[in-house]
Amino acid sequence: MPTALEDVVELARRRGFFWPAYEPYGGAAGLYVLGNLGVRLSAKIAQLWREYFVTPFNFVELDTPNLVPAPVLEASGHVSNFRDPMAECSSCHRKYRADHLLADAGSKLGEGSSLEEMEKELNSLKVKCPECKASQWTVRPFLTMFDTKLGPYADVTAFLRPETAQGTFVEFKRILEVERERMPLGVAQIGRGFRNEISPRQGIIRLRELRMMELEVFLDPEKPECQYLDRADEKTTLRILTEKARVGGVTEPEEVSLKEALESETIKLEWLGFLMLQSKKFMLALGVPPPSIMFLEKLKEERAHYSTQTFDLEVNLNELGWVEVAGLAYRTDFDLKSHTMKTGVDFSVSVQLPAPIKRKVRRWFIDIEKLKKAYPVEWRSMMKEYGSIKEREGEPPSSLAGVSVEPSLFTIKETEESVNVRKFIPHVVEPAFGVERLMLASLLYAYTTKEDRTVLRLPVEIAPQDVAVFPLISKEPMIKTAIEIAEELRKAGLAVFYDESGTIGRRYARSDEVGIPFAVTVDGQTEQDGTVTLRDRDSWTQVRVSRIQLGKEILNRKTA
Ligand code: GLY
Repeated sequence: MPTALEDVVELARRRGFFWPAYEPYGGAAGLYVLGNLGVRLSAKIAQLWREYFVTPFNFVELDTPNLVPAPVLEASGHVSNFRDPMAECSSCHRKYRADHLLADAGSKLGEGSSLEEMEKELNSLKVKCPECKASQWTVRPFLTMFDTKLGPYADVTAFLRPETAQGTFVEFKRILEVERERMPLGVAQIGRGFRNEISPRQGIIRLRELRMMELEVFLDPEKPECQYLDRADEKTTLRILTEKARVGGVTEPEEVSLKEALESETIKLEWLGFLMLQSKKFMLALGVPPPSIMFLEKLKEERAHYSTQTFDLEVNLNELGWVEVAGLAYRTDFDLKSHTMKTGVDFSVSVQLPAPIKRKVRRWFIDIEKLKKAYPVEWRSMMKEYGSIKEREGEPPSSLAGVSVEPSLFTIKETEESVNVRKFIPHVVEPAFGVERLMLASLLYAYTTKEDRTVLRLPVEIAPQDVAVFPLISKEPMIKTAIEIAEELRKAGLAVFYDESGTIGRRYARSDEVGIPFAVTVDGQTEQDGTVTLRDRDSWTQVRVSRIQLGKEILNRKTA
């Protein structure tokens, strides 16, 4: 008997939500195609995400390139850290994720263990190679970013972005200007991310190219309060499995009120807590029930290099178990500071003070004669990057134009000045969602059967199509009237599916199976009194509605 997951995956392929890419060429692991319904579902999920994370807070959106010059990702730490432990079979040389092989073998080691520990464990447990059954392994790091060249010059390396966030950070200064330095400022990106997974498995769960929805909330570290927190009352709870509990061997999350979690500093920042709450609400809106939602705090060794505190939002996906659908990370000023160090560009925000204050200012400038001597070839391009401003505030960079620079080439001056602005590098909190995982979660929780038929009870907000329109029988004048009604409903802003083939029972079944919430049928009575039947997907009840009222009635039901 197929599992719910197998049923959903089969439905997704047969009805055109998604399927593995390049099948005529034997397929390519970790790459998927979204069909017509998948494109619509993903767009609806993105729109709903905006309603939970962007529009209510006057936040903004951005769209930066997929290709990222290498220095950006060197500065962000990805070139050094975005690596997975790769186990290579010493006999057939197949390569696997070492932590996945260990998890399958029941080992406690995994994410966060050292490469040496993993290699030793694989060999002492005599873990068999899934391909050739040998059991001798070597483990080494594998950079999971795709690299390429920009243009014809071999030295201009770029990567396909592993996250949208770095594009947002690099453009932060300009966004700040456009938005007149308001704080807190949220900048969202919906776009592709790329990860060269060593051996992707679990279908659409682990992809080499994925759709991401990321929000970076920039805030003043001296004013970290979240002004929207009053939207959470005493009853607002989150199911959290904390780092401390995990270290103590606890495996079940605890349900705590958001207020409590903030007061006890279980969650380190109000904005992080608030975004966790929004994430839970977003999951509920996608049809995931509360017991299937939890937040897992990452251990220090599991956290990404940029994060001070991370909670994975996990959803129970049947036989796949608990699956991460989002990561919520407190990135502090790590990224903006890193880009400041690398480029010398000042990414700080200035706030006007009510009265001037005295403060120590540290400025640096480059000694050009020393630079010429130390870098007789590169000094011109280094000076070009340095620019024409003589003195700069803050710390000198560790490199210029990709060349490491000795601190002795900079002169540092410290003075006490009277200033009327306060400058700070904003802190960042980031919720980052994967669209394909959300698609799978919403399909799994919507999948039901009624009288041996599949009914996809997708929430109306994300159903790929709003209404199906059918002539009861496939003949005139019913066809003409049904086509006219379909057009009227499209003009009313609804996504309409028109179908005239097969029996009406089959057509209802097909529309239930892809989750169309409403079906309109034109019948003999329509010609006489101008009414049609309006059928509800979930209850299968039908009422007669006048054609003139139809668009309004469906829109009302959609928003009810
Ligand atoms: N920006 C979060 C991530 O890369 O997963």
